[in-house]
Amino acid sequence: MAKKSDRLPISQSRKFILSDDTQFAIKEAYKAARTNLVFSLAEDERKIVVITSCSPSEGKSTNCLNMAITMSETGADVLLIDADMRKPVQHSLLRLDNKTGLSSVLGGIVRDVSKVINRGVRSHLDILTAGPIPPNPAELLQGSKMEQLIELVGEHYDYVFIDTPPINVVTDALLLNGRTAGIIFVVKEGHTRHEEIRESLEKTRMTNGRVLGFIKANCAAKSSGGGYKYNYKYKYKYNYNYKYQEYK
Ligand SMILES: Nc1ncnc2c1ncn2[C@@H]1O[C@H](COP(=O)(O)OP(=O)(O)OP(=O)(O)O)[C@@H](O)[C@H]1O
Ligand SMILES: [Mg+2]
Repeated sequence: MAKKSDRLPISQSRKFILSDDTQFAIKEAYKAARTNLVFSLAEDERKIVVITSCSPSEGKSTNCLNMAITMSETGADVLLIDADMRKPVQHSLLRLDNKTGLSSVLGGIVRDVSKVINRGVRSHLDILTAGPIPPNPAELLQGSKMEQLIELVGEHYDYVFIDTPPINVVTDALLLNGRTAGIIFVVKEGHTRHEEIRESLEKTRMTNGRVLGFIKANCAAKSSGGGYKYNYKYKYKYNYNYKYQEYK
């Protein structure tokens, strides 16, 4: 059964981005997730993390940005890459120009990636927007230019967070397996089904992917008086470390 989309206008989506006004408990939850992530990446030379989820609209982009922001607040140099070249939103969330971006680099239109990275969007945080929507995002992500890009940014930045489309819809996120440290799954409480999580984990296993952890986002809206109150619950677990050889 198809789920009803509860996508909000971008102006409202911006209120979920961490800022000085964000509630203390939410900031703390992201900091806890950051701590767990730092430890889970301790042995990884290249700290490049893919953020994905099972299905559309579960909070990948919001959590990718908030994790990147939280990490950059430690003083580490962070890059966020919007690799969702199907439904890119990072440029809209951050009010950035998207005439050039990842697709321009992967498509060979721009040679020097440093020319398209938005520097200092926040302190210690750079953003590579998705660029114009290409006809072949999966091929671009699988190609050698993406490999070179990952090599380059992995050397230059302390942490790289990659926003991707949902795993049970398209393979894009899985195509990055083997080139990154691993995947963080965003699951939405009361929305993501166990069966979908199992399917995603199986797909990750089959492609030699490593699950770094989960962020549980409870986006259920509760009516309170005249407005809406949002419940936040972010959990990060470092319980999973899949490494399988088999791949057909
Ligand atoms: N904490 C939250 N509470 C309520 N709504 C939220 C929260 N975080 C994000 N949303 C809303 O949920 C919707 C989906 O968020 P987001 O774009 O981050 O998901 P996504 O998984 O990246 O979606 P897509 O699959 O389209 O890429 C957006 O309308 C966003 O504003
Ligand atoms: Mg998204």
